[in-house]
Amino acid sequence: MSSLPSVTRVAQAFSQAAQDYDKVAGLQRQVADHLLQHCGPQLHGQVMDLGCGTGYITRQLAQQQQVSSVLGVDIAPGMIEWCRQHIDNPRCAWLVADAQALPVTDHSINYVVSSLAMQWCADQRALFDNSSRVLKPGGCFYATTLGPQTLHELRWAWQQVDAYQHVNEFVSQGEILTAMHACFAQVQVQEHTITLWFDKVSDILRELKQLGASNHNLGARHGLTTRRHLQRMTDAYETRRNQLGKLPVSYQVYTITATSKVG
Ligand SMILES: C[S@@+](CC[C@H](N)C(=O)[O-])C[C@H]1O[C@@H](n2cnc3c(N)ncnc32)[C@H](O)[C@@H]1O
Repeated sequence: MSSLPSVTRVAQAFSQAAQDYDKVAGLQRQVADHLLQHCGPQLHGQVMDLGCGTGYITRQLAQQQQVSSVLGVDIAPGMIEWCRQHIDNPRCAWLVADAQALPVTDHSINYVVSSLAMQWCADQRALFDNSSRVLKPGGCFYATTLGPQTLHELRWAWQQVDAYQHVNEFVSQGEILTAMHACFAQVQVQEHTITLWFDKVSDILRELKQLGASNHNLGARHGLTTRRHLQRMTDAYETRRNQLGKLPVSYQVYTITATSKVG
């Protein structure tokens, strides 16, 4: 059983994060830029940006010459509202919907692009089924997601305090590949690590919260984390400072390319 929260809770968390999201989304920007580069300039026709957030990728894809329209889809109404208010491009359309149950016509999209949204889906098989269903024959799915080594320093620091699950868990490459091979013709996964450096543990926790990415796992210790627990976790994390006095936060990034089975 997945330990991820319901789509309603994910939607609420990201809707609340929408206003400040762009100010703190440094990691998301790096990953999105990497994905855009990975897709290259050759995208054409109808594109879908699944889990579009504040539309950073949607708006850039809509500027590509061969792209006729980009449908930005997100489960969080607050994110879609933000996009409607801030992105004025007739090639962009917006939809509040769950990537695991897309109300989109079969075989109507040339490319599905998705950056750092997959890891929020409890039923990744449903996400892959839906993505492959909406793709035209020969269409491609390009995505980034996070692997199990993500936030390993924070997970380790909490493990020095108690046995509760304080940090989100991420699906392994093997599990992703198994689910994807059932839905797509060809699947490739590349992996790289991004390490961000912080001055204070409190800055790390604040940023994760502002991103809507604080711990929503069901094994979380709701309401029971005392100041003493937090201090002990902070003391443990402090031992990870580098020679320059900075604290690391690692993200294991998977970049996925898959081609549609149909055709
Ligand atoms: C980390 S943000 C990334 C946003 C954007 N792709 C970017 O790179 O800036 C993840 C987004 O996925 C959305 N999301 C999470 N679960 C989803 C689902 N089941 N269906 C659609 N969107 C979802 C969230 O609401 C959030 O806006």
